[in-house]
Amino acid sequence: MTDLSGQQLGTYAISEKVGAGGMATVYRAFHEATQRDVAIKVLPESLADDEGFVARFQREAQTLASLQHPHILPVFDYGQQGKLAYLVMPYLPFGTLKARMVRGLRFKDALRLFTQVASAVDYAHRKELLHRDIKPANVLLDESDNALLADFGLVKLAEDSGEHLTTSGVILGTPAYMSPEQAQSGEIDQRSDIYALGVMLYEMLVGKRPFEGDSALSLMYRHVNEPPPSPRLTRPDLPAALVAVMLQALAKRPEQRYQTAGDLIAALDTALESSTVIQMMSSSPQEITALGMQTATLESGPQTAILDEDKQRQALVGSALAEVERDGGSLSSASGARRRIPALPTLVVVLIVLYVMVCLVGGVYLVIQNIGG
Ligand SMILES: Nc1ncnc2c1ncn2[C@@H]1O[C@H](COP(=O)(O)OP(=O)(O)OP(=O)(O)O)[C@@H](O)[C@H]1O
Ligand SMILES: [Mg+2]
Repeated sequence: MTDLSGQQLGTYAISEKVGAGGMATVYRAFHEATQRDVAIKVLPESLADDEGFVARFQREAQTLASLQHPHILPVFDYGQQGKLAYLVMPYLPFGTLKARMVRGLRFKDALRLFTQVASAVDYAHRKELLHRDIKPANVLLDESDNALLADFGLVKLAEDSGEHLTTSGVILGTPAYMSPEQAQSGEIDQRSDIYALGVMLYEMLVGKRPFEGDSALSLMYRHVNEPPPSPRLTRPDLPAALVAVMLQALAKRPEQRYQTAGDLIAALDTALESSTVIQMMSSSPQEITALGMQTATLESGPQTAILDEDKQRQALVGSALAEVERDGGSLSSASGARRRIPALPTLVVVLIVLYVMVCLVGGVYLVIQNIGG
């Protein structure tokens, strides 16, 4: 796309190009009437070739403009000029969560920013809108260091306008954050966004993503087939309560994840009450810095391996939960709050020992009586 700097788009005077992502180009522009800087996201011209795009763009833009949440980057105007369709948003020059993670993020801030993003996702899901491309690069920061989630539904807009995985090297969504079902181009629902939140939580607390790969396909393969490496391999000090939450969000099967972003936030809140987490929070300046991303080669294996991987993940979640219980904490899971079950085997052993002792005492008593008689 040609650089639009210096041109006029609707009532906006474009000053400079800020950057370009997989699906659009972002410009800084000036709005004369309100005397403020704005960010304009210009969608690829190729989308406009698709029949029905105009109507679809209007519908999506109106939906985006209707979202009102403290942690969603607002879309306050949109328009079309020739083949150029654009969305207008506040201009935020404070960088993205991705850049912030590279600089280093305190444990406390990581949890605060993550919860803000998850609350934005929960709000959108209640309005039946999926994000489909949740990742730190799509989280902008404001001047008070609050998170604002951007790019809601853009993937869908491109998808519906005929951009496919195989055309022009475009991959819809970002493989590093893609749920197994999205990678397999299956049906997706809000639980796919919850998986992406799980990847983000892992990355924010561990310092690296659960899966890396030297190609989009190898990454997608890993999301489908491999269990996430235990976060404690990299961060042995990570409290078990938090490990359990991230692994639950990263379950391969949607039905085994948190079913809503609200459930995920609730589980995180509960985990934050565990003594080890409180200890860790207070022992800041603990900083998590994004580690250099490892590369790995594609390992071939049968798709059915997913069953075994799921068992491994369950074992990991199970051991993390067991540790939480040992710590005296409790944790809600996707299937509801976990209740404490009395240690049944211990009770049985005690009863057997008592029974044997009564028998022994009774036997000795009878023997003494017989001898006496
Ligand atoms: N409202 C904004 N204010 C300032 N900079 C922005 C704004 N929105 C986006 N940017 C910046 O513009 C650049 C391009 O953003 P864009 O969303 O197109 O790409 P991306 O997020 O890197 O990838 P993707 O296409 O997957 O969303 C990024 O550096 C982003 O941080
Ligand atoms: Mg983006």
